[in-house]
Amino acid sequence: MTLSGRAKLAGVIGWPVAHSRSPRLHGYWLQYHRIDGAYVPLPVRAEAFERGLRCLADMGFRGVNVTVPHKEAALAACDEIEDSGRRLGAVNTVVMDGGRLHGFNSDGFGFIENLREGAPAWQARKAPAVVIGAGGAARAVVAALIDAGAPEIRVVNRTRPRAEAVAKELDGPVQVLEWPERSRALSEAGLLVNTTSLGMTGQPPLELDLAGLPASALVNDIVYAPLETPLLARARARGNLAVDGLGMLLHQARPGFAAWFGVEPEVTSELRRFVLAE
Ligand code: ATR
Repeated sequence: MTLSGRAKLAGVIGWPVAHSRSPRLHGYWLQYHRIDGAYVPLPVRAEAFERGLRCLADMGFRGVNVTVPHKEAALAACDEIEDSGRRLGAVNTVVMDGGRLHGFNSDGFGFIENLREGAPAWQARKAPAVVIGAGGAARAVVAALIDAGAPEIRVVNRTRPRAEAVAKELDGPVQVLEWPERSRALSEAGLLVNTTSLGMTGQPPLELDLAGLPASALVNDIVYAPLETPLLARARARGNLAVDGLGMLLHQARPGFAAWFGVEPEVTSELRRFVLAE
């Protein structure tokens, strides 16, 4: 679409950023809603991040998404931070209002909305949740599960101290279990989430015996390449409902798009196909 002199501008800052699907995702919504605007990739090195962010605000950008390795730096650079960002120690969305930078983190929102869409009957309050991994994505998932009222959240990570840090930083019913105990952690669970990179194309699969997982449990992988990870395939084969990770990426983008471009965008099956067909 051609732009006018009033075009609304946004983008994604990362280093590297070439792999990001966000330009395609936001570009779809811009075109769908016939918005006079653009969303561009912004490759910015760590040392130039804060300067770059301020420059974009000065140049009239409406805001940006922030990805690896800048999410923590974005927390420090913003003038106002919502609880979602402060609590996770990371900001993934910045809204620019004149010279003011307003930051938040929409990963937890994206995670929960993805489950709502893929498994409307699932209820966080009903049973314990098991979260595999303790990185940035796991933090967002655990925080969202605390807010959703999960009675118990079992975090299992190869490096135990990282899981303990998650439990300590997030105030909730979080239990840390040993990595070799991960299959036993599944008993009576209502949700199993993989937040590690295991199962991603080029990575080994997540080794996890699902025998103890209740048939009623929902299984979610935040990996979306491939869409059907070995974990999701095994879960479906034994009758568990499984939700793939693409929806988390799509839904986490909604609040930023709405703030920058003034339209609430929707996640549709056509959008899913478009983002995957890169
Ligand atoms: P992100 O911010 O995307 O969550 P991260 O902080 O690098 O990324 O976290 C990656 C997660 O995958 C971690 O929980 C990591 O476990 P460690 O904390 O022990 O590193 C997990 N992970 C990656 N490769 C793994 C492997 N081969 N076996 C087990 N866990 C692995």
